[in-house]
Amino acid sequence: MKKSMKLFGVICLVALMAMGFAGCAEEKENDMYTIGIVQIVEHPSLDTIRTSFIEELSAQGYTDGENIVIDYQNAQGDQTNLNTINKKFVDNNYDMIVAIATPSAQSAVGATSDIPIVFSACTDPVGSGLVEDMNKPGGNVTGTSDAVSAEMIIELAKDLTPGFTKVGALYNSSETNSLAVVEDLEAYAAENGFEVVRGTVSSSSEVQQVTVNLVENVDILFSPIDNTIASAMPIVAKTANDAGIPCYVGADSMVKDGGLATYGINYTILGAETAQMAIEIMNGTSAGDIPVRTMDEMNIYLNKTTADTLGITIPDEIMNKAAEIFE
Ligand code: TRP
Repeated sequence: MKKSMKLFGVICLVALMAMGFAGCAEEKENDMYTIGIVQIVEHPSLDTIRTSFIEELSAQGYTDGENIVIDYQNAQGDQTNLNTINKKFVDNNYDMIVAIATPSAQSAVGATSDIPIVFSACTDPVGSGLVEDMNKPGGNVTGTSDAVSAEMIIELAKDLTPGFTKVGALYNSSETNSLAVVEDLEAYAAENGFEVVRGTVSSSSEVQQVTVNLVENVDILFSPIDNTIASAMPIVAKTANDAGIPCYVGADSMVKDGGLATYGINYTILGAETAQMAIEIMNGTSAGDIPVRTMDEMNIYLNKTTADTLGITIPDEIMNKAAEIFE
């Protein structure tokens, strides 16, 4: 009798403690502003953006686990995963969704028209259907864009490896961010006497074969700011370098991973600017009232090892202008 009473007491105590903890956890979750970060895939540039975003929030006094909650989810390059993640964020009633790269943002926009969405590094927000007007996004969406100029990259290619007539455009045909840049490239080609050959992939498993075929038919390669190509960039660079074909790209990380050169933006700054927009929203501004931010400053990034492999001498003038030279 005494024993069972004791047992009963212990059970009650455990039950009470469990209730107490559950109560606590719930209260905490409800109190703290919760941000869901969704990222299509992990490649160096998107990881830089995310890290910089989180660091800037913290520098401005918003730290994960202290006064805000950040739930980071990686979709591993899969569209279905993206939709599942965004649905979970909406079902959990998170306070904000931060969507890194265009596919993540398109999925988030499809998932909610209430929860504020801040997209990050979307090359063509209007063409990708994220906002109708860069200056007045309206609704629950705003963010940062990493639009680059195909023309500037081609002019750099003319300085480094002149005389090309055929440019191979390597990208994933379902990434609207890439299509925007490839269309600009084609318009520029039509006026400047070179031809563009499209080499499209639908997933990272196709990248190597498409690159192998493309380098046989072109003088230089051009890959825009494409997430699928960026994820497989070491393979692309090796294939291009083995074939003696210079590979121009859309982002610094792709140069670091073996591409020859780009005129691109600084993604650490872009991540920090995305955080500043998130803070404005936390402080009560409606997302739709904040204009989409683009990066004005374009920098030259070069890969010296790739240049040496291809036997290309980079003029001093360009070396001196470069923001970063990867070895
Ligand atoms: N701009 C890409 C998009 O709109 C995302 C991105 C950011 C990216 N940095 C990159 C893609 C570097 C490839 C390489 O989805």
